[in-house]
Amino acid sequence: MEKKIVILGGDGFCGWPTALHLSAKDYNVTIVDNLSRRLIDVELGASSLTPIKSTERRLEAWTRITGRQINFEKIDAAKDYEALKSLLNRVRPDTVIHFAEQRAAPYSMKSATHKTYTVDNNIGATHNLLSILSELELDTHVVHLGTMGVYGYDDAGLEIPEGYLPVQIKTETGEFISREVLYPTDPGSVYHMTKSMDQLLFQFYAKNDGIRVTDLHQGIVWGTQTEETRLSESLINRFDYDGDYGTVLNRFLMQAAVGHPLTVHGTGGQTRAFIHIQDTVRCIALAVENPPARGARVKILNQITECHRVRDLASIVSKVTGAKVAFVDNPRKEADENDLRVSNATFIDLGLKPTTLENGLLAETMDIAVKYALRHDPAMIPCVSTWTSTQRPGEVKERQAIA
Ligand SMILES: NC(=O)c1ccc[n+]([C@@H]2O[C@H](COP(=O)([O-])OP(=O)(O)OC[C@H]3O[C@@H](n4cnc5c(N)ncnc54)[C@H](O)[C@@H]3O)[C@@H](O)[C@H]2O)c1
Repeated sequence: MEKKIVILGGDGFCGWPTALHLSAKDYNVTIVDNLSRRLIDVELGASSLTPIKSTERRLEAWTRITGRQINFEKIDAAKDYEALKSLLNRVRPDTVIHFAEQRAAPYSMKSATHKTYTVDNNIGATHNLLSILSELELDTHVVHLGTMGVYGYDDAGLEIPEGYLPVQIKTETGEFISREVLYPTDPGSVYHMTKSMDQLLFQFYAKNDGIRVTDLHQGIVWGTQTEETRLSESLINRFDYDGDYGTVLNRFLMQAAVGHPLTVHGTGGQTRAFIHIQDTVRCIALAVENPPARGARVKILNQITECHRVRDLASIVSKVTGAKVAFVDNPRKEADENDLRVSNATFIDLGLKPTTLENGLLAETMDIAVKYALRHDPAMIPCVSTWTSTQRPGEVKERQAIA
């Protein structure tokens, strides 16, 4: 029988290509989204570099091109408990994929209002989903998109494992007992803090109600298109380049395309984990196909394919495109330099063949950043959200080094 999947946040950057990929794989897909991301574009005066269509037009195009249908329900997962419950009771999905959170660290640090919104929205959506599944007694597998950022970026001195850390604890009588604990989080923004709190909600509902949960700790996503979104311009995925929502590599690609120096924060010594959007959708399909058993602990997988230092990334993009590199004030509160090693053994064992930066970068620059460069607004490039009131936004100033 056809498997049913509900995708919370299915209109977003990761959710939309995931919905198409799973529909193409014959899953019966329903998107739930409150379209808050499109409203935040209006609030910020920003828009996707790519000309994304309305949800309705995208879905019509998918049906016209492939003959397949994806359902859409406009529901706020954090606020409309009864509407979400009624939908899940009607559909009784095999899997719910949960992307429906405010996902930009800079946006979450903009003001007290943005902090409160991020906490209420993210924790509210996650808790509503778990509480509904428990109330309806559904044996639905929850696949959640978490982030590598929950672990912070201090040098751990070890490869970050997939979720759990074996520890030895010395008791008061001097004996040692062994335990496996959640790998400690060390969030660096309110957004990352909500993702750390999600982990405890999952741990509780897995233990108390036997809910099957896979939590994917994803790296920073780069790229725009997947096999399915490439089928027509009407299906094109969003490409954020503004200071709040643009992820670092996509910002560099777009900056290179419009002749703006690549803005590296601080020394650029921050090491981060990355994954291409095509691999994101493949990993999610693998996670859907390999659920944990009922009653098992939360399955935590690191969804990343490579790690790079930000200044090295800038230098790779600069080599491919000839763009200059500018070092600007870092608006974040974080270490200047860090190393990062992450285990991604499970996805590699399940057969993931990573799209590497080396192979994908030039195509991405030409297909997207150069093609749509004229749609950019230069005013949206600088990061203007800062972590504390004493910091300065990351604008390019004349006195700053441009290499
Ligand atoms: N993009 C990345 O680089 C990245 C990296 C690591 C983890 N993630 C995680 O993946 C998930 C998706 O990220 P994205 O880049 O696609 O973000 P996005 O903002 O493009 O998409 C999120 C979608 O969820 C919807 N949404 C938000 N709150 C909602 C609510 N209360 N009810 C219903 N819909 C709601 C938004 O309208 C949007 O369409 C996020 O949870 C994010 O934390 C993303």
